[in-house]
Amino acid sequence: MKTLVITGGSKGIGLATARLFAAEGYRVVNISRSPIALAGAVQLGIDIAEPDWAARHGEAVRAAVAGSERIALVHNAGLLTKDSVANVDAAALHRVLQVNVVACVQLDQLLLPLMGAGSAIVYVGSTLGEKAVAGSCAYVVSKHALIGLMRATCQDLAGRGIHTACVCPGFTDTEMLRAHVGQASEVLEALAGNVTFGRLIEPEEVARTIHFCALNAVINGAVIHANLGQFER
Ligand SMILES: NC(=O)c1ccc[n+]([C@@H]2O[C@H](COP(=O)([O-])OP(=O)(O)OC[C@H]3O[C@@H](n4cnc5c(N)ncnc54)[C@H](OP(=O)(O)O)[C@@H]3O)[C@@H](O)[C@H]2O)c1
Repeated sequence: MKTLVITGGSKGIGLATARLFAAEGYRVVNISRSPIALAGAVQLGIDIAEPDWAARHGEAVRAAVAGSERIALVHNAGLLTKDSVANVDAAALHRVLQVNVVACVQLDQLLLPLMGAGSAIVYVGSTLGEKAVAGSCAYVVSKHALIGLMRATCQDLAGRGIHTACVCPGFTDTEMLRAHVGQASEVLEALAGNVTFGRLIEPEEVARTIHFCALNAVINGAVIHANLGQFER
């Protein structure tokens, strides 16, 4: 049996990814606060912003994957805040790092003992994992750290037959993006103007990239940008 374990499968890129894997015959286990709209999926209602979530829910997570030889683990849940190096407070920075980085390590440690050869760990990063823009300091820090975590994963799991990659989406039309920049059509058009294709990315396009990475061990340790080509300014 093959199983997808995904965080943040309730919305956006995560939901598109869960639907794609389900269509490919995977059992789906989703971790998020609100439920996933996918028939047959196992929903674990967990808030990964709580630092002790793994201690409280670890048994339920492990039980949900019982009987799987191959696990595709997709760390997709993310928290995007507006802040700068001049004003981000320590608690807010800790919270973003907890959701975007520390929770990934916690989930890796819960599941690694159960992951056989042929399993994969895909981290969902961001264009902002390798560059910065003003006004998203904690997020930029966390997504750079996530690429480091992916690279450490590759090195530390040598010989286990488990591969890893970090998929870095660009401007993708989801709740997160619209909550961050607003719904105004002129703002969304301006964002699309940063993209050489002149449009936002659909969540399904990122989902297909995640799926490709999970299936192809040859990209082990790689940062894969999925941003439709952004203008370099
Ligand atoms: N959209 C973009 O333009 C874009 C660009 C670059 C990178 N990304 C990355 O892509 C990933 C998915 O983003 P998206 O745009 O699809 O965002 P989204 O539509 O806002 O979905 C975020 C998901 O994360 C889950 N989540 C957030 N906080 C959580 C928590 N404390 N505990 C459990 N689950 C939590 C949410 O579930 P609940 O709310 O139900 O808990 C939701 O399913 C993120 O890592 C994001 O940084 C997105």
